[in-house]
Amino acid sequence: MAEVDLHTDRPHPARVYDYLLGGKDNFAADREAAHRGLQANPDSRIPPRENRLFLRRAVRYLAEQGIDQFLDIGTGIPSAPNVHHVAQAINPRSRIVYVDNDPIVLTHARALLTSHPDGRTDYLDADLRDVDSILGSKVLTETLDLNRPVGLLLIAILHFIGDDHDPEDIVNRLLAALPPGSYLALSHLTGDFRPEAWEKIAEVYRKQGVTMQVRSKPQIEQFFTGLEMVEPGLQVLPAWRPELGDPSDQLQPTDGQVSVYGGVARKP
Ligand SMILES: C[S@@+](CC[C@H](N)C(=O)[O-])C[C@H]1O[C@@H](n2cnc3c(N)ncnc32)[C@H](O)[C@@H]1O
Repeated sequence: MAEVDLHTDRPHPARVYDYLLGGKDNFAADREAAHRGLQANPDSRIPPRENRLFLRRAVRYLAEQGIDQFLDIGTGIPSAPNVHHVAQAINPRSRIVYVDNDPIVLTHARALLTSHPDGRTDYLDADLRDVDSILGSKVLTETLDLNRPVGLLLIAILHFIGDDHDPEDIVNRLLAALPPGSYLALSHLTGDFRPEAWEKIAEVYRKQGVTMQVRSKPQIEQFFTGLEMVEPGLQVLPAWRPELGDPSDQLQPTDGQVSVYGGVARKP
């Protein structure tokens, strides 16, 4: 693999997230940003934890609906169980394309390529803002059959896309390439409950050149326009199809502590 520049002198969302989850794939600049975020909001470790739990519940739900192909954009540093572990536990033939634009995720791609022999996983180093480079990629078309339904996963990524890049258009173009019966699973940070804390955190990122834009519930609902929402609709994460025995079921975090909405919808 070619040498990659990890830009360790500035924080990267994937590595800050990894640090907040208790991972080891982060550097001083990431930890410093995480600690500044923790000063603004001492509950900053809760959204990543709830997000991973939502990801697993959503993928399990989709696999139970018969979805056996997944396009996971904004994959993050691997944190088992990853999408293929969850999907292939239900259907070993499931195929997953992981996409991220952070070189550190690329360096960990091997951990994402441990598919069950009956299925397949692949990794694409691409940017969500360049939809054509994702849809036109051979990695995508050789791994997934775009004539059959796909589960599109945009989990905790769209708050890194500012309005200047028209995230709604990005989602619409991705969905347009997928056949009816496909699903969108999405989660997104919100400032609805603690606006000041999240504005401070966004400022920490902005100062380092990273866009972070929290959005309100109605703004996040726009991403599902034209789709059939799966019950119970867009919810603060622990309220989306909670499972007995899930840590969130036991810890009962408040909406303000979680500050992430998530939902799943079907393309008619
Ligand atoms: C907060 S992490 C979420 C990881 C994973 N989806 C999860 O829910 O646990 C966000 C990920 O999105 C990636 N990301 C941010 N902007 C991106 C972009 N424009 N294109 C591709 N990936 C991006 C980051 O590198 C990071 O790995």
